[in-house]
Amino acid sequence: MQSPECPCSGAAQRAARPEFFRLGPGDIAEVAELERQCFSTPWSEEQFRLAFERKVFSVFGLRDAGRLAAYVAVYHLAGELEILNVAVHPDARRRGLGRRLLAILLQVGAKMGIHRAVLEVRTGNAPAIGLYTGLGFTRAGVRPHYYGDTGEDAIIYECDLTDWASRDPGCCPAASTTPTDPGAD
Ligand SMILES: CC(C)(COP(=O)(O)OP(=O)(O)OC[C@H]1O[C@@H](n2cnc3c(N)ncnc32)[C@H](O)[C@@H]1OP(=O)(O)O)[C@@H](O)C(=O)NCCC(=O)NCCS
Repeated sequence: MQSPECPCSGAAQRAARPEFFRLGPGDIAEVAELERQCFSTPWSEEQFRLAFERKVFSVFGLRDAGRLAAYVAVYHLAGELEILNVAVHPDARRRGLGRRLLAILLQVGAKMGIHRAVLEVRTGNAPAIGLYTGLGFTRAGVRPHYYGDTGEDAIIYECDLTDWASRDPGCCPAASTTPTDPGAD
């Protein structure tokens, strides 16, 4: 059976090759600033600090020309990856960075034996839904009126990572290097 098309084709391939890295508590000010630029109800620095105290919490990013251009925050629990937040700097959108960041995360996760990724997204967030479905996420459920600020529903998406481990590592160079542990159980 043919493997699915690599997510690093198209827009992602056209993007520059920014550096994939794991953020730590020392990066909280920078990631919280990006969070403020991307969300109406951003996580505070204190929320990041408390989250980093949990072993299951990790944040990964793409650094482009010295700047944090994109990040994803996750929980890794019982063989599953829960994607909490994904954001790309407003100046850097539609260049394939969001897709590239998630593709690397899912490939690294699959190689480490994580079998499933899940996330929630607002019904009206078309860019994010396009990003997730383009990567192979499928709708798994809905939480009615989940978001307190707008009353919007949350759609739950999931992705089976089985295929991700067998994708051609050559097309995602950062993922073919030594995996960075996305957090222990
Ligand atoms: C959602 C987000 C992370 C996408 O990042 P991005 O780097 O611009 O996305 P990419 O360039 O990798 O695009 C990947 C796919 O996402 C979809 N997409 C991204 N932006 C889109 C837009 N403005 N409108 C429609 N679809 C869009 C498309 O399907 C796109 O594939 P294509 O380029 O082949 O059409 C970015 O818009 C963002 O940070 N939004 C604010 C924060 C947020 O809502 N995060 C998600 C909820 S936690």
